[in-house]
Amino acid sequence: VDVPHLRGRRLLLRPLARDDYEAWRDVRRASREWLERWEPRRPPGETAPSARDDFVAMLADRAAEHAAGTGYSFGIFADDGFAGAMNMRPIERGPFQSARLGYWIDERVAGRGYMPEAIVLVLRFAFGEAGIHRVEANVIPRNAPSRRVMEKLGFREEGLALRYLQIAGVWEDHVRYAMTAEDWASQGAALEHTWLEEE
Ligand SMILES: CC(C)(COP(=O)(O)OP(=O)(O)OC[C@H]1O[C@@H](n2cnc3c(N)ncnc32)[C@H](O)[C@@H]1OP(=O)(O)O)[C@@H](O)C(=O)NCCC(=O)NCCS
Repeated sequence: VDVPHLRGRRLLLRPLARDDYEAWRDVRRASREWLERWEPRRPPGETAPSARDDFVAMLADRAAEHAAGTGYSFGIFADDGFAGAMNMRPIERGPFQSARLGYWIDERVAGRGYMPEAIVLVLRFAFGEAGIHRVEANVIPRNAPSRRVMEKLGFREEGLALRYLQIAGVWEDHVRYAMTAEDWASQGAALEHTWLEEE
């Protein structure tokens, strides 16, 4: 599957390219504290993600995943440019056909409903062309904005996984949210209507 450009009401999602580096770095810098609270801490010695080489290496990894069908990663672009990232990776194929969502947005444009719009775009692609059956997102219980996004989109809360993922150096419990192709078949049209169509 070629990675398409996904267009919503206000947003464009497309794979990041080398030319996006400066915009990506600027947003990462401006929102560093707001983002790093919710992200894994890198092992000592690993290059800081703010370096150009690291960005280019990330693009190469993501392109290889696209080609293999094991991950799809998008930059989120609004009118005023790069706004955040939407990663559907890894994707486990075979009898699972299951994908994990990760997402973040520039603090300066939070609260505009950009992320729900971006997630609906990616769900339509996932359950359509990409042939995925289950999309999961795992959220730290105290991450109220992210849980709110899951609720607004009707993701099912499936339980609490203890010490699930290392975030900012701590093995944090995570609430497991999921949506399957069956859910999308019944709820997708309403989600598209709410989040993708002109008001
Ligand atoms: C979670 C996140 C992606 C939501 O993106 P968003 O585009 O702001 O989503 P929404 O506009 O739908 O807002 C979701 C909720 O955030 C809260 N919110 C609104 N404005 C906010 C602001 N300026 N700052 C923080 N939270 C805000 C509100 O509770 C809102 O719910 P509401 O629509 O019922 O009012 C974003 O907060 C983020 O990037 N957080 C840091 C990284 C992160 O937590 N990623 C997810 C890890 S699982």
